[in-house]
This record gives sequence, structure tokens and C-alpha cells, in this order.
Amino acid sequence: MKHSYVAEVLASQDIHQEFTVKGWVRSFRANQFIALNDGSTINNLQCVVDYENTDPELLKRITVGAAIAVTGILEESQGKGQRVEIKAQTIVIEGDAHPEEVKLTILSPKRHSLEKLREQSHLRVRTNTFGAVMRLRSKLSFAIHQYFNERGFYQAHTPIITGSDAEGAGEMFKITALDLENPPKNEDGSINYKEDFFGKETNLTVSGQLEAETYALGLGKVYTFGPTFRAENSNTSRHLAEFWMIEPEVAFCDLDGNMDLAEDFIKYVVNYVLTHCQDDLAFLENRLVQEDKSKPQAERASMLLREKLQFVVDNNFKRVSYTEAIDILRNSKPNKKKKFKFPINAWGADLQSEHERFLVEKHFECPVILFDYPANIKAFYMRLNEDGKTVRAMDILFPGIGEIVGGSQREERLDVLKEKMAALDIPEEELHWYLDTRRFGTCTHSGFGLGFERLVLFVTGMTNIRDVIPYPRTPGNADI
Ligand code: 4AD
Ligand code: MG
Repeated sequence: MKHSYVAEVLASQDIHQEFTVKGWVRSFRANQFIALNDGSTINNLQCVVDYENTDPELLKRITVGAAIAVTGILEESQGKGQRVEIKAQTIVIEGDAHPEEVKLTILSPKRHSLEKLREQSHLRVRTNTFGAVMRLRSKLSFAIHQYFNERGFYQAHTPIITGSDAEGAGEMFKITALDLENPPKNEDGSINYKEDFFGKETNLTVSGQLEAETYALGLGKVYTFGPTFRAENSNTSRHLAEFWMIEPEVAFCDLDGNMDLAEDFIKYVVNYVLTHCQDDLAFLENRLVQEDKSKPQAERASMLLREKLQFVVDNNFKRVSYTEAIDILRNSKPNKKKKFKFPINAWGADLQSEHERFLVEKHFECPVILFDYPANIKAFYMRLNEDGKTVRAMDILFPGIGEIVGGSQREERLDVLKEKMAALDIPEEELHWYLDTRRFGTCTHSGFGLGFERLVLFVTGMTNIRDVIPYPRTPGNADI
């Protein structure tokens, strides 16, 4: 029989009509009031049991975590806290959840720390916090596709297994089908990858950018949205070994156009969830307010979650060159008082997250786009400026997050690109196909990568990236 979802029933005007709902028991109070949740919304549906006329054996099985189907009549609720409720006529238990066993899990009705929830990542989506985060994650993903689709972009499905290192940083997971106990060897003792599955060395992609460039130089405007993998050993609250990245790439677009696109794109998707995900955002906002109560005044958030999101939508991102940023940092209080772990002494220094956060959170107090970075701290494919020492790179820095976007105008001049690759020992043979795009109708083009989980972090107000992806992969952890 067709059943209704809790979200529909809660919004329904069909008072006195019969509904069947199915979900998991969140609580069962006084042998009468079931709070039922089916994941369609953060809100529970109250189902009222006529316990005097219900089999006591059945009542005993209505326990926290159990999956049940309730058929009954929708009525205006007498009680506080809900507009409508279901007066249950029949209850069917689909799956029991034994209280003694539930007690040992994060499903037990008490406050569990986020660390504890991480230990049972297969169950945490049944909690309010993770339900809200994962619904928002899904809505954001949809908004991203909608944004590009409405603007004439095509999605390019770039490969996950590649033979190239797009970022040239060597942080790749290798792929092999060889018997690692006994791999075929060359005469010099090295592994003979010619005998491997693909007849060469391959790895999981760190970015779809290079392949996306080839597609932009044919379809005009493309984007990728897929998993990327980095074997960097950064055990931080901002890094995952497997994360999702959105990478638009646009032909005949320079760095200014690229910054405009990134800013407009972020504002669109943030605005989308502000419009479409009020209930989940309200819940997460309140969660942060409660959390702040236990913190000293100085550490509390200056804006509520939705205010913070609205601020991003309403205000221009501040655009600052790397050179200006270095001046600001060099003369900053924390630098002078030696509070930075990595002091800023000279132009050319790579910015660490402490510097990025100072600029965004203390100095400008709004999202910042830094551009024109020193060539030698950025990837090989970025367009060299006339000064010969900076490249047309841009990073977008967000409060509480640090870098959320990294992008650039690409080096479209074959000779300059080849020189750069030679200087970095990147073999031309490996990227012959990439160089071809500079041989046949090369043109100005630009793109960027947005780390999806960092966006979800920002939007949900969560603080650890492990809590915004269903099954986080981090150094030492690939559970489930
Ligand atoms: O700055 P990145 O390394 O840039 C690129 O990969 C370019 N190919 C993008 C492009 O121009 N098409 O990474 C882009 C973004 C970062 O700004 C950050 O948000 C996210 O990806 N990111 C990570 N997110 C989670 N865990 C990690 N280990 C991440 N590394 C990068
Ligand atoms: Mg970057």
C-alpha cells in the first residue's frame, strides 16, 4: 500500500483523512505519544496510540529505533509543539530494535558527542544533526547542478583513474592490479608496470581539471562534480583523503571573469539553501547557540548561522592581491608579536591557514579573494603574469574555513607552458594531450575548484570535515 512521508503529512490540510506513515521511532512517551521520523524532514510526526485498546505485547515493541508503519487519521493536535498528529488505528512493527542493544549505541536517546557519533558512522544519519547535515549536503549538490545547467554549462565526467598528476604535487593513491606480493620486475629490479592492468602506472585523480580543460576547449563552458583523492598526510579538521570537488572551466574567460563566476556561484547555492532548507538550518543554528552557551563570551559566534549565510549572499567578496595581503600580514599584530607559527617575513611566503584566517576573520571580516600569487608556490598550469614572477591564480578564503576555492587563468601559450613543465621536471610525453590543446586553437580560459565538503562545513556551521560526509576517509581511517 502507498504510504505518505512525514514531511507531506506535517504540511497536509487533509484533516480527518486516513494516512499511512512509515519510519523510525525517535521516542515513545507515556505509552501514548510516538515521535516518528522517516528522514524526509528534521521534524517528527506525533502518532497518538490508544494504549487502552492496544495489545500490550505490541506496545512493548514500540521502542526507540524500531521501524514501524502507522495507519490512522490526521487530526489537529491538542498538544503543544505540533499543528497536526496522527491518531493511530493500526501499528505494524517492521523491524524491532531491542532496548538493551539500542542502549549501547548512539541511537539511545541522550546527547552523544560528535566523536562518539563518528565511531558509529552507519547509524549517525538517524540523529537530528546528521539528518540535517546530510539533507543540506544533498540540496547543495542539486543547487550546484541547477546553477550550471541554467547558465549553459555542460557537465563533463572526467576520469577517476588517470595516468597524470593534475596538481603536480605527488599526493596520489596508486592503482594496480599486480600481485603486490610478487610483482613483475624489470631488469633493474623496479616494478614492471607494462604488465599491469593498464600497461602503465595509474592513480586516483587529484583533480579533473586538466581533462575538464580539454572539454571546455570544445564545449565552451563545462563543470565536473566528482570525487577526488589526495594521499596528503594532513590530519586536520579541513582535509579528507577522499573529497568531492566542483570544477568549472570556461573558454574565453580571464581571471576576472573567473572570480565573478566563483562569487556568483557561491552566493547562488548559499541563497538556495537559505530559501529551501529553513527547518534544517534553524535546527543547526540552534545547536550552535546551545553550544556557544558553554563558551566564554569572546569565543562565541558574532552572527547566527543564517545571518552568516545571508551576509555572504548580500556582500561583495573583498578582492586583494597576494602582494597587498603580504603587506597586511607583515604589519599585523600577531606577526609583530610573533604569534604566527609561520612568521611572515618576506614576499614569496606561502600562506598558511593561520594567515588566511587572520585576513578573513580579523582583518577584512568578510570572504576574501586573493589573486596573483607567486608563481613558485602554485601549480604549473597557471598563467604567468607580465612581471614574470606572479601567476593569475586566485583562492577564495572563508571565515571559519580558510581556503574554499582554488582557481586560475590557465597558461594558454605553448612555449611558456613547456618551459614551466621543463623547470618542474614534468615530462612532456605524460601530458602530450594537454599540450595539444595549446597547439590547436589555444585560447584564454579559466576555472576553479570548490571543495564540496568545505562548502557543506560553512553552510551547516559544523567544524570538522569528518562530520559533513557520510563515510570520511582520513589518514588511518577508511571505516565501512
Ligand atoms: O586548490 P586545489 O588543490 O585546486 C585544484 O585542485 C585545482 N585543480 C582546481 C581548479 O582550478 N580546477 O583544490 C581546490 C579546492 C580547495 O580550495 C579546497 O576547497 C578543496 O578543493 N580541497 C580539499 N577539501 C578537502 N580535503 C582536502 N584534502 C582538500 N584539498 C583541496
Ligand atoms: Mg589550493
